[in-house]
Amino acid sequence: MTKTSYHFGMIGLGVMGRNLLLNMADHGFSVIGFDKDTTKGQALESAATPGTVVKGVATLKEMLDQLERPRRMMMLVPAGQPVDDVIAELIPLLDKDDIVIDGGNSHYTDTERRLKYMAEKGFHFMGVGVSGGEQGARTGPSIMPGGDKDAYEKVAPVLVAVSAKVNGDPCVDYLGTGAAGHYVKMVHNGIEYAIMQLISECYALLKLGAGYSNDQLHEVFKTWNEGDMKSFLVEITADVFIKKDDLTGNSLVDMILDKAGAKGTGKWTSQDALDLPTPIPVIDTAVTLRTISSLKDERIEASKLYPAGSTHISDNNLVQLVHDALHFGTMISYVQGMAQLQLASSEWKMEIPLEKVVRVWRGGCIIRSVLLEPFYQVYTANPTLSNLLLDSRIASMVAPVIANTRLAIQKGIAAGIPVSGLAAALSYFDAYKSANLPTNLIQAQRDYFGAHTYQRIDRPGIFHSEWQPQ
Ligand code: 6PG
Repeated sequence: MTKTSYHFGMIGLGVMGRNLLLNMADHGFSVIGFDKDTTKGQALESAATPGTVVKGVATLKEMLDQLERPRRMMMLVPAGQPVDDVIAELIPLLDKDDIVIDGGNSHYTDTERRLKYMAEKGFHFMGVGVSGGEQGARTGPSIMPGGDKDAYEKVAPVLVAVSAKVNGDPCVDYLGTGAAGHYVKMVHNGIEYAIMQLISECYALLKLGAGYSNDQLHEVFKTWNEGDMKSFLVEITADVFIKKDDLTGNSLVDMILDKAGAKGTGKWTSQDALDLPTPIPVIDTAVTLRTISSLKDERIEASKLYPAGSTHISDNNLVQLVHDALHFGTMISYVQGMAQLQLASSEWKMEIPLEKVVRVWRGGCIIRSVLLEPFYQVYTANPTLSNLLLDSRIASMVAPVIANTRLAIQKGIAAGIPVSGLAAALSYFDAYKSANLPTNLIQAQRDYFGAHTYQRIDRPGIFHSEWQPQ
C-alpha cells in the first residue's frame, strides 16, 4: 500500500461508521478511518476480514494524507454541531474537488447550508441517508444520496458495492439535488415512526383485548411476516416476543419501561409537512404518542383518576381484523410519506425521483417491505403521481381491508385501548376520498367573524357576506 492510495475514508468509527467501512473493505476497497477515540481505530482494524485493507488512524490529517485524489470520505457523527465541527476541522486539509459525505441523520436545512458553504470553497459536499442499523451497515444498507451529481458519480461505485441488493438491483441511486438525500431519509424515518406506532397498537389490541401471550404474539407476527405484510419491522417484532431477559428470565419486552425515545427525525418530518403543507397525520400521531409515552408519572396519576374497565374484546376474528388494520395503516403511512416527498420535491426544487426512492427502500432499510414493489411499479408508470391512493392498483389493495380496519378500530375504541395511529390512518383516508367535506361551514364561520371571504360552488369569484341576523 503506497502512502496515498486508500480509496475511501470514514470520519467517526462508532458502530455505524466502522461497519460501513468494513463492508467497503469486504467489497475490495482499501479503507481508512479516523476517530478521536484511538481505541475505535484499533477496534476497526481487529474487526477487519483477513485479506482486506483496513487502517485506523488517530488524526484527521493522517487520514487525509493517505487518501487517493480527489479524496472521497464520509462522516458518520451525531447530527448537529458535531457535523459543523468536523467540517471546520476538514476545511484547511481539503483540496479542490475533494468529496465529503455526511452519512448521518442531519436536518436537511443544515445540509443545504453546508452544501453552499462547501461549494463556495470549491469542495463537493453530499447529504446521504443511510438506513439499516448496525447490521445493515455491515451487510448491505439502503443508501439515499442527494446533491452534487458529479460527486455522486465518483462515489457511486463504492455506494453501489456496499448497498443491499434486491434481485441483484442495488438499493442506492441518485435521489435528487441539494439536500434531497437527507430529505428522503427524514421522510423514511417518519414512515418508520408511523409503522412502529401502528404495530404497537396492534400489539395492544391483541394483548389487552384478547389476552394474547408473548408466544402467541410471536406466532401471529411470524405468520404475518410470511404473507402480504412481509417486512423488516414485522419480522423483528416477531423476534422481540420470544426474547428472554437475562436478569429475570421473563420475556424481555415485559421488562422494558413504556417510554419511547426519539432523536427528532420523526418530529422534523411532521414540522416540514406542516410547513409545506401536506397531511401526514399517522406520522404526526406517532410523534405525539412517543411524547405521551414519556409522561409516565402523569399517566400513572391519571390512571388512578380514570380507572380502566375491562379491555376485553370479544371477537373470534380479532387477529384477522387487526391484521387488516395494520395492513391498511401501513399502506397509508407510505401514502402520506410519499405524498410529502412529491410535494417537497417540487416546492423545495429537489427533483426527487419517487420511483427510485421506493426502489431504493425495497431492501436494506428499516421500512423495507413487500409493499414497496407495487409502489415501485406504480411510480414507474406515473413518476409524478401526487398521491398513491389515486392509482387504481393501490385502490385494489386498499379496498379489501377497509371494512375490517373500521371494525378493529371500533373495537379498540370501545374497549378503551388507544388506537389513534390506526384511527388517524382511517380518518385521513375517509377525508381524502370525500368529494365533499363539511369545511364549507368553516369558511362560513371565517367569513362571519373575520370577513375572510369564501368561494361559491355555483360561480367563480371571491365573496363576503354580512352574517349577523338583522
Ligand atoms: C435507520 C434508522 C436510524 C435510527 C433512527 C432511530 O434508518 O437505520 O432510522 O436512522 O435508528 O433514526 O430514530 P429514533 O431514535 O428517533 O427512534
